[in-house]
Amino acid sequence: MSNDIRITPSILNANRENLAAEISRIAEVSDYIHLDVMDNVFVPNFTFDFDSATKIIQETSIPIDSHLMVAEVDNIAINYAEAGSASVTFHVEACSDIRGTAAGIRRYGSRASFALKPGTEIDLYEDFLDAIDMVLIMTVEPGFGGQKFMVEMMEKVRRTKKLMGSRPIWLQVDGGVSLETIEIARDAGADTFVAGSAVFSAEDPAAMVMQLRERASIR
Ligand code: DX5
Ligand code: ZN
Repeated sequence: MSNDIRITPSILNANRENLAAEISRIAEVSDYIHLDVMDNVFVPNFTFDFDSATKIIQETSIPIDSHLMVAEVDNIAINYAEAGSASVTFHVEACSDIRGTAAGIRRYGSRASFALKPGTEIDLYEDFLDAIDMVLIMTVEPGFGGQKFMVEMMEKVRRTKKLMGSRPIWLQVDGGVSLETIEIARDAGADTFVAGSAVFSAEDPAAMVMQLRERASIR
């Protein structure tokens, strides 16, 4: 199996007052910055409006992985691609045209990805795997950082990996990823790991990113 893995720290629980400084602490060792966008409708929490998210996307030197936890996401997702996200993830539960939305994202040169909440099955979306570049399997209920990793989602991760077959689609997990859980997710088939509180509650966030990468790479 390849060692091709990605660590994408979430800035959800980083110090918002000084995001640029927080990001610069981990920029060198991170593949992407994971930007959690919440609208207080799809999830009971609000993070960034489009203008402030755009500012972060455009002012950050490393690629941004935008995770949109917003309702009626079709056009919004395309706007996030146009704003310069390297990758845009929309929730299938909030999307009315998966194929059209993914194509719209890709038209701006961004990677297109869809996410599944814990209660959503992957089998319903098998036919759309040829339209996207990554699947995000949520390992917590979306809305907040610092929640417990749902190990029972590993069956869905394994199933998703199987349905992907030999296609070069990335498989991301998000929620509760830490030194204790990252190997479990990798063994189930994940290759792209979001980590929020594990990174930003560490004394040395960059060292934590490196440790997470090492743990996910060695098998
Ligand atoms: C949760 C967000 C996650 C969250 C991860 O809704 O999508 O990206 O920030 O934070 P941790 O790693 O603390 O679970
Ligand atoms: Zn996220």
